[in-house]
Amino acid sequence: MKIDGRHYRTIFPDKDGAAVEVIDQTRLPFAFELQRLATMDDAARAIRTMVVRGAPLIGVTAAYGLALAMREDASSENIERAVAALAATRPTAINLRWALDRAAALLRAAPEQDREVLAYAEAARIADEDVASCRSIGEHGARLLSAIADRKDGPVNVLTHCNAGWLATVDWGTALAPIYVAHDAGVPVHVWVDETRPRNQGAALTAFELNAHGVPHTVIADNAGGHLMQHAQVDICIVGSDRTTASGDVCNKIGTYLKALAAHDNRVPFYAALPFSTIDWTLNDGVAEIPIEERDGREVSHMTGRTDEGGFATVQVVSPGSPVANPAFDVTPARLVTGIITERGIAEPSTDGLLSLYPERKQAA
Ligand code: MRU
Repeated sequence: MKIDGRHYRTIFPDKDGAAVEVIDQTRLPFAFELQRLATMDDAARAIRTMVVRGAPLIGVTAAYGLALAMREDASSENIERAVAALAATRPTAINLRWALDRAAALLRAAPEQDREVLAYAEAARIADEDVASCRSIGEHGARLLSAIADRKDGPVNVLTHCNAGWLATVDWGTALAPIYVAHDAGVPVHVWVDETRPRNQGAALTAFELNAHGVPHTVIADNAGGHLMQHAQVDICIVGSDRTTASGDVCNKIGTYLKALAAHDNRVPFYAALPFSTIDWTLNDGVAEIPIEERDGREVSHMTGRTDEGGFATVQVVSPGSPVANPAFDVTPARLVTGIITERGIAEPSTDGLLSLYPERKQAA
C-alpha cells in the first residue's frame, strides 16, 4: 500500500538483503517509522512486543526470523532453538506455527551450507504468497460488496473489528482487502471501525490505513456496533481471523464474538476473511481447543496516546487496585458465520464447505 506516494510492504529485506525492515506498528498512527531486524532475537522481540502483529504478518516475520537465525548459525540444533523461540512469542495465531513448520521442514532436509540461502528464499516466497492470497481474498470479497451496492442507494456500510488490513499482512489485508478492491473499482463503501480496546488496533491502525487509502470511515466505540445493526446502519460485517478450525469456528480479536451475536440477531451477514495459512485443520472445536493469549493487564488499565501538545502520554484509566483480565482473542462458532472468504473463493463455514475449496485436505481430514 502507499504511504506518502511510496509503496510499502509491511516487511521487506533491507538493501544488503541480510536484515529485514518492518513498519513499527507501536508508533502508528502518529509516527511512520521503520525498524531493522538484524537477528533472530530482534524478530522474536518484534513479534512479542507487537512492533509487528496480525496473524499473516507474524507468520512471515517468524519465517524471516528463522532465516536470520540461519545466518548466525545454520546447525540443526539452531533450527530447533530458533523454531522454539519464535513459536513461543504468541500462542493464538496459527500462521506463526504454519510458517515455521513449512520453513523448518525445508531446512532440516537441506545440507547445512545451503540453509541460509534457502531460508531467505522461503521467507520471501511465503511473503509473496501472502500478497497474492490477500489480493485474491479482496477480489472474492469485493463481489459481495458490489452485490449489496446494486441493491441499495448510498454506500455499503461495512463493520470491521481490530485491524485485518495491509498492516496485519504483507500487503492488502484480509478483511480490508475486499474494501480496497471495491473502493478502487468505484463501489461506494463506508466502514464502521471498531476502536478495539484494549490496544485500539481499529482506532489506530485500521483508521490510519483507511485514511491513507481515502476510504470513507467512522471510528466507533466497541459497544456501538449492536445499536448500529438494530438501526439498519450495517450492511455486512467482515473480520479477519487468527485461527479458523476445520469446522469453520473463527478465532479473532476479543470482541468479535459479540459482533457476530449482534449480527445474527439483526440478520446482518457476518463474514470472516482469511488465507489458507489461518486454517488449523487439526482442530474442530474452536472454543474448547484454540489457545487464547492472555496479555499484560496494563493494556486494560492504561492507555497511551498523543497529547494535544504533540507528545505521547500513558495514563491509567482503571481504578487503582482493581484487578484486570486481558484475554486477547475469542472464538465465534461457525453457526454465527455466514461465510469464509478465502483466496480460493467463499466457503460455507463447515468442514464440507472448507474442504470443497481445499479438496487436497480431504485425505488428511
Ligand atoms: O493482536 P493482534 O493485533 O495481532 O490481532 C490481530 C487480529 O485479531 C486480526 O484480526 C487477525 O490477526 C487477522 S489479520 C489479517
